[in-house]
Amino acid sequence: MTTQLTITKPDDWHLHLRDGDALDTTVAFTARQFQRAIVMPNLAQPVVNTQLAAAYRQRILNARPEGNTFQPLMTLYLTNNTRVEDIRQAGESDFVYAAKLYPAGATTNSSNGVTDVSALSPVLDEMQKQDLPLLVHAEVTDPDIDVFDREQVFIDKYLVPIKKNFPELRIVLEHATTEQAIDFVLHNHLTAATLTPQHLLFNRNDLLVGGIHPHNYCLPILKRETHRKTLVNAATSGNPKFFLGTDSAPHTTNAKENQCGCAGCFTAHAAIELYAEIFDKENALDKLEGFSSFYGPDFYRLPRNQQTLTLHRESWQAPSHYPFGKQTLTPFRQQTPLQWTIK
Ligand code: DOR
Ligand code: ZN
Repeated sequence: MTTQLTITKPDDWHLHLRDGDALDTTVAFTARQFQRAIVMPNLAQPVVNTQLAAAYRQRILNARPEGNTFQPLMTLYLTNNTRVEDIRQAGESDFVYAAKLYPAGATTNSSNGVTDVSALSPVLDEMQKQDLPLLVHAEVTDPDIDVFDREQVFIDKYLVPIKKNFPELRIVLEHATTEQAIDFVLHNHLTAATLTPQHLLFNRNDLLVGGIHPHNYCLPILKRETHRKTLVNAATSGNPKFFLGTDSAPHTTNAKENQCGCAGCFTAHAAIELYAEIFDKENALDKLEGFSSFYGPDFYRLPRNQQTLTLHRESWQAPSHYPFGKQTLTPFRQQTPLQWTIK
């Protein structure tokens, strides 16, 4: 039985750090284990241009623990008002690595998102020219589409046409949750998907059976077990189209345990440990390094990290809460001991 595992230091290709005082908490959790992270732009005031991305990047760098070399990789938030010029500036910068498409109303801070995907064509055309990857929250928001079907409908209605019209555009289907998402990525050139710990570990029973479990609520919502199994197979297959993206999305305990609880699982306290557990359960620890440390940088055309990280098989229990300014954060999968620990 493997009791110790050393891998190239991983990166997180989908992360929410929030802003302001929250950075004092969030940056340290991620910087402890990841060398780089693709930082989501869905702040209360979204990061809609390169100037805002530069300022946000600096705030993140300022929040790094002493001596830490963590690098935030910035993204732009696409809106109905994004101009071709915004994309050109992003492409020419050396710190914006992608742009994110949030359908308006799909998730946290998405009210400024895109309402008409077809009107984005000039922007997508410029992204293709600049070779700037498109990151997608792939869910429709039509009220008449069932929440469990929103990802597959988005793929059919929007992603398939986008890929057809912009064949050289690199696309990451973020936080994939369904067989249809895996299938789309497998069959389309220059596409990839990030996979989260929560969607690999849990199905919708973990959200809804025996009472409602608000800390397992995220978007896209957890799906049925057959989908989870497909995601686990993709993650552990060694196919470079699938790589690590936690979607760690901190909300205060109050905001989660609420009449109208926020979507998002905070996993950054134990992200690589959770992935190690998933791969271990599948007897696929030999595939963890590719998924965590190689395929992401390869897709983004960045060098792989030089540093390493060592995991031990050693059980520990996350605390029930972490301090989060004057509030608290409840970590994901807090009730069950974690199986792996970072040396
Ligand atoms: O659960 C989620 N939380 N899904 C998202 O897409 C956004 C995220 C957040 O920012 O809270
Ligand atoms: Zn996210």
